[in-house]
Amino acid sequence: MKAVAQDSLLGEVVFDAAQIASAVERLAAEIKRDYAGEPIMLVGVLKGAIAFYADLMRALGEHPLTLDFVVVSSYGSGREGGKGDVRLLKDLDQKPAGKNVLLVEDIVDEGLTLDYLLNNLRSREPRSLRACALMDKPFHRVVPVTIDYIGLTAPDAFLVGYGLDYQEGFRNLPYICKLKRHPQS
Ligand code: IMP
Repeated sequence: MKAVAQDSLLGEVVFDAAQIASAVERLAAEIKRDYAGEPIMLVGVLKGAIAFYADLMRALGEHPLTLDFVVVSSYGSGREGGKGDVRLLKDLDQKPAGKNVLLVEDIVDEGLTLDYLLNNLRSREPRSLRACALMDKPFHRVVPVTIDYIGLTAPDAFLVGYGLDYQEGFRNLPYICKLKRHPQS
């Protein structure tokens, strides 16, 4: 059965639901403190950030914000046919000019996706631009990027769950775990 075959790919749990929830609460407290009541345009990078985005948004409580999303496709530097190519598949609905844009990413690995998005958004003259990532995986950085808010430091492994996928599966897991077999091996 397909589900059983998929389950056999799941390895050690790296962050359980309670660890994720406490990282989200801490990030929300830092963001509320730093923006001090200033409205935020919260920009989620789909699809990976979906779970983190939804939890962070609610943890921000009564802080004034608007929601928007971008969809990107990326072909990391090591992947076949890829030269660190990032493409914007869906742009923002609102104009970022003059807004306090806060990018919300699931995980920063090589840094190519975040670097592309920060450059793209910066050129459209937001009032301020910051990045928030649930996880930083700093081992294979190709471009240096500044992440203003980091929830957790990920191990050097391919992770799934809580929005992160392997072949579009596992995004719904309420925890983050390693994949037993690396997808590129
Ligand atoms: P970067 O351009 O290498 O920093 O890639 C960031 C994007 O790659 C993330 O937003 C994820 O969608 C994806 N990614 C990076 N590491 C992982 C992982 O361990 N599991 C699943 N997706 C990942």
